[in-house]
Amino acid sequence: EIAEQPKAVADTLLGRIDTTGRLTLDEVRIPAAVLREADKVVVIACGTAFHAGLIAKYAIEHWTRIPCEVELASEFRYRDPILDRRTLVIAISQSGETMDTLMALRHAREQGARVLAICNTNGSTIPRESDAVLYTHAGPEVAVASTKAFLTQLVACYLLALYLGQVRGTKWGDEIQAVVRELARIGDEVERVLETMEPVRALARSLAHKDTVLFLGRHVGYPVALEGALKLKELAYMHAEGFAAGELKHGPIALIEDDLPVVVVVPSPRGRSVLHDKIVSNIQEIRARGARTIVIAEEGDESVAPYADHLIRVPATPTLLQPLVATVPLQVFACELATARGNEVDQPRNLAKSVTVE
Ligand code: G6P
Repeated sequence: EIAEQPKAVADTLLGRIDTTGRLTLDEVRIPAAVLREADKVVVIACGTAFHAGLIAKYAIEHWTRIPCEVELASEFRYRDPILDRRTLVIAISQSGETMDTLMALRHAREQGARVLAICNTNGSTIPRESDAVLYTHAGPEVAVASTKAFLTQLVACYLLALYLGQVRGTKWGDEIQAVVRELARIGDEVERVLETMEPVRALARSLAHKDTVLFLGRHVGYPVALEGALKLKELAYMHAEGFAAGELKHGPIALIEDDLPVVVVVPSPRGRSVLHDKIVSNIQEIRARGARTIVIAEEGDESVAPYADHLIRVPATPTLLQPLVATVPLQVFACELATARGNEVDQPRNLAKSVTVE
């Protein structure tokens, strides 16, 4: 399923972009009035889908200027969240059957909010109970740990965010088209990443005896770090944690010791250069304390090379889209490491693909 991702993301885009680069999201056109009038977006999801939601927040707020909250579905309704008819709730779920997400969406609808589902499974419960649905069309995902569903959830979130920008007029047509063009190329970029994964596999095998791996990122690289850590927990049964790199000094840096593997997701130097420079100093800080740095950086970004014990290259993308390429090496890394440890990667212990209990 990791290898199926180039096709999966292409399938998510299929029929949703016209030849001029305009978005034609027919399936969400019905609640267009709701989309136009919404004054708040709330994303609810669990597990990997929650990480897709965290990334969606950056895109939604940046492109539409609508405040967006992201909440674990299991926490949502116990908090007595503030919801009304102008709240757009986005429920993200691969299976469409996750009980926590379903209960959260029912709660949202009871409060009068409109719910849009991003889902992979046709006719499942979550889309049936939602006001509209954007299917990801990733094809059946069988492995318990989500991979292609995640990438396609991201694509669906970007499409939705751009569409919101289109109907609300917060983004110019040509700006939307520029992002859409980048999205249209992303399947090929993912393919290129997959073709260069042999060093990542070798690295993973060499770390099979380790107890802990940390992951750091900033901006959209932070949820990518969380997802990298989740994949390693699920597949390799290792202690893995993701942090926002800016939080290092508030605690996690105390964990750094000699030869501790730390994966760092570096944003593009071309986009938000402040963000990039901050993370380069974070890499220096942890390396000075003995960390073994595994750096994921854009092709051509030479500034990180002196501080990277292992350098993993990903194609250049706009900052907001980088998770689509930066997550792939982390999936491969976890899969190979788990295999080296003798684990059953498609059926990890104690986990279920679809969690239909609360
Ligand atoms: C389970 C799976 C995860 C998945 C999560 C949410 O925990 O093991 O891989 O991310 O449920 O599933 P959903 O089907 O709602 O996306």
